[in-house]
Amino acid sequence: MKIHFGVDYYPEHWPRERWETDARLMKEMGIQVVRMGEFSWHKFEPEEGKYDFSWLDEAIGVLGRYDIKTIVGTPTAAPPAWLINKHPDILPIDREGRTRGFGGRHHDCQSNLTYRKYISDLVERMTLHYALNPNVIGWQPDNELGNSHDELCTCDSCRRAFQHWLKKKYTSVEKLNEAWGTNFWSQNYNDFNEVFTPRITASGENPSMILDWRRFHSDLILGFIKLQIDIIRKNCPTHFITHNYMGFSDTVNYYKLADLLDFVSHDNYPGGHFAKLPQQDISDVAASLDVVRSYKNQSYWIMEEQSGITGWEVMGRAPKPGQLSAWAVQAIAHGADAVVYFRWRSCSFGTEEYWHGILPHSGNPGRSYNELKELSAKLAPIMDEMQGAVPKAEVGIIYSFDQEYALRSQPQNPRLSYTGQCLKYYKALHDHNVSVDFVDPERDFSQYRVLIAPLQYLMSPELEDKYFEYVKNGGRLVLTMRCGVKNTTNICMTERDLPGRLGELAGIKIYDYDCLNEADVDLKYNDVISKGDMWADIITPDEGTKVLAVYASDFYKDEAAITCRKYEKGACYYVGTEPREKIMEEFIRTVLKEADINKDYECSDNIEMVTKSNENGEWLFVINHSEAEGTYKVPDNFNLMIGNDSGTLAPFEYHIYDTRVKSSNHALAQ
Ligand code: GLA
Ligand code: ZN
Repeated sequence: MKIHFGVDYYPEHWPRERWETDARLMKEMGIQVVRMGEFSWHKFEPEEGKYDFSWLDEAIGVLGRYDIKTIVGTPTAAPPAWLINKHPDILPIDREGRTRGFGGRHHDCQSNLTYRKYISDLVERMTLHYALNPNVIGWQPDNELGNSHDELCTCDSCRRAFQHWLKKKYTSVEKLNEAWGTNFWSQNYNDFNEVFTPRITASGENPSMILDWRRFHSDLILGFIKLQIDIIRKNCPTHFITHNYMGFSDTVNYYKLADLLDFVSHDNYPGGHFAKLPQQDISDVAASLDVVRSYKNQSYWIMEEQSGITGWEVMGRAPKPGQLSAWAVQAIAHGADAVVYFRWRSCSFGTEEYWHGILPHSGNPGRSYNELKELSAKLAPIMDEMQGAVPKAEVGIIYSFDQEYALRSQPQNPRLSYTGQCLKYYKALHDHNVSVDFVDPERDFSQYRVLIAPLQYLMSPELEDKYFEYVKNGGRLVLTMRCGVKNTTNICMTERDLPGRLGELAGIKIYDYDCLNEADVDLKYNDVISKGDMWADIITPDEGTKVLAVYASDFYKDEAAITCRKYEKGACYYVGTEPREKIMEEFIRTVLKEADINKDYECSDNIEMVTKSNENGEWLFVINHSEAEGTYKVPDNFNLMIGNDSGTLAPFEYHIYDTRVKSSNHALAQ
């Protein structure tokens, strides 16, 4: 059985008598899987060493009778009060040196060995217990790793772990001192055991130390979860293991985490996380789906898909009629094999009372239930064939955790962010309906006709070589401002002028620059006049390098801002500023045209068009993300599978095409 739709279910929040009704309603709306248990440590182990799995067994059994399978979550993101009282050193210590208390979740230090011992014991018991249960198909160890562990914890145990990590990396303390530039402000260490975890200082920080701290932190979390994954693999060899990612969240290196999993999952809340944004830009949502697919380069699951209003203390906007479906269809279009909604029913107590489920507090099916029921009925029949299908991207955007770490602690312009720049380029490509992969700088680049590498701030000789090789083989590389500034331990390079060795590839030098802190600059690209933002690299082009755009104000008026160096096959572009929309649009159009990337369809601005394919075929999704009607055009031989009138979409409506059926039928008929 292939799984397409599911829900996150918390039977322990509801009376036993209700479970049967839930299972029936789920079955009726096409639910095939539930995730359960991921915060219920106290239910599984109410007292030390006394395990009780009977409640979950029963829930799994009830659901199983309705053909609904179970993914078990290990509850290690919520250690119970008895454990914390017995071992208070499990509580994390933040950068201010304060102990974070019990009462929320993730109140744990992930290096703490006592805590790890309790986890091993519990996960060992759980996995042995569920290994042979025919209704259990997979595991989600912990929940949203990295969530709430940002910059935590700085306790003694983490300090020792950090020192150990550094010793392994640098082997001698002299090398550490050199790598971190500790001659500055007398930060030199005589021994690894003198190194501190980065508590809040009287003033300033060492950027090299902070970069290594963040890398260490990622490795710590990977080690923390590997402990559980190893136990699950040993005891439940036939079950899959996945984890719920959070798009561009960066505490854990998600590429490395993906190596430990069978497939990646994602928590998708396009309505925005209430407190920050009432709603996310649809291209940002698309980007987070694409980055999640890219972490393992394969199709993925949505483990939590928005199913109503989001909210903790305050709430987001109500999804409009049709919008939940449009978001779910978007996730499928970008490569999701299955969509699991968070959550089945709004809880009537606790922090997340206002994070709305498919069912309201009353438990009576309403608008969300009916809408999502209709969605499963329409989509499930065609999703079997689509299993494993993903968009085939000709354009890649380099996405690197190291660059994000380095620029986050030293953004230079406070408005500048690495991920933010990646999203700006993504948006321009998304406007053209061009499929994009995010690319680990360690992976092979050769499949992409265009590679956009924003803010290549930290640079290594190996990465330089890869870029040279890529362009030599005909690739089109886009480099941007602040390229080649630092080495990989976050120290400014001094051997050459900016942008370092890649200046040879781009055919430029940068002797001078301007940080556009609270400022912008006029920018001229052909006849288009707009603004450059964030930063201005004042580019001196080599002979033979074409100037595409110049600055049109300030002391560097008429100096080059965007350049292109053409080679026999490939090309290297350099963008010295953040071009505002009109020029970004113009620039991306040029790059796509020169790379010969064209789409044979078009649409109005409120519509997203995404193609995905596998060995069975290719499908085109056309989704209206707005409250206005939208129009689009596709070739006549595309076969409309879902939808009526092709070419027009009502608000939040979607159409799905099989792009091959008609032509192949036609071929057969001849
Ligand atoms: C995350 C978590 C869930 C829940 C939702 C809503 O995605 O994984 O447990 O907390 O957010 O807040
Ligand atoms: Zn700690």
